[in-house]
Amino acid sequence: MEILTSLADLKKALPTPERRQRPLALVPTMGALHDGHRALVRKALEEGGEVVASVFVNPLQFGPQEDFDRYPRTREEDIRLLEATGASWAFFPDAAELVGDSSGFTISHPVAGLYCGAHRPGHFSGVLFIVSKLFHLTRPDRAYFGKKDRQQLFLIDRMVREFAFPVDVRGVDTVREEDGLAMSSRNRYLDPEERQHAPELYRLLTIARERYAPRNHADRLDLASLLVGDMKERGFRPEYVVFVHPETFLPLSAEDPPETPAILITAAWLGKTRLIDNIDIPAF
Ligand code: PAJ
Repeated sequence: MEILTSLADLKKALPTPERRQRPLALVPTMGALHDGHRALVRKALEEGGEVVASVFVNPLQFGPQEDFDRYPRTREEDIRLLEATGASWAFFPDAAELVGDSSGFTISHPVAGLYCGAHRPGHFSGVLFIVSKLFHLTRPDRAYFGKKDRQQLFLIDRMVREFAFPVDVRGVDTVREEDGLAMSSRNRYLDPEERQHAPELYRLLTIARERYAPRNHADRLDLASLLVGDMKERGFRPEYVVFVHPETFLPLSAEDPPETPAILITAAWLGKTRLIDNIDIPAF
């Protein structure tokens, strides 16, 4: 595996589209890698790609009061994991070179202001900015993103389709700990007691999925507020719990018949840690 740290390195190392023997697969990350990230690399390899993984804690997607400074940085371990998983290149860009003073542009979309975007103003603009830039610098044939960050995946997929970026965006299922907790770099903020408690979030989502059989939209709203109540009872501080339409990512409304498939999305605080998760609810 080759380690690249500058844009010049990247340009020299990556094959241009005409010279590729295998499709080039980009896996963007912020590091502190775990099995969720590795699943993206594995999937890319399984699907015949040659992998370039980027590791960059992107300042543009953190709010002023957020955890940019304390976000875990584990470079040596990240290198070891990427190498062991089979990436061909690991790209650790320099913030001054990658971002510089180019933060004036924003990329917006109605869905970018909802859910996580409502609680983290500017977050998705920062994500879409850096992801677009990585696409232009690496010119991948494919790019892999996790369903754990479902709203992010939706927005990236939309951006790519609407701006006709020549890249095939592929989503990968959420990798969970044995007890159901979605793997996340931020899980290391949890103290042992919180860590034990955290899987309750996903458990509540699975219960909601089992119970999901609304006769009308009011039932659906009731189920969401019941879930908010259950979460609070168990010590979470929920930010949002919403049934969204898988195609539009907008909240399901009274116009959507009861049997419409949904994605149930949530964000909740447990102590000082913000957890997000989601679950697919098939049409019934
Ligand atoms: P990061 O949180 O490091 O996640 C990198 C990629 O790994 C994302 O596509 C994310 O959805 C995926 N991922 C994280 N945990 C996962 C899990 N448990 N199962 C499956 N996939 C998982 O998301 C970002 O970084 C940044 O916003 C980024 C896209 C790199 C732009 O800065």
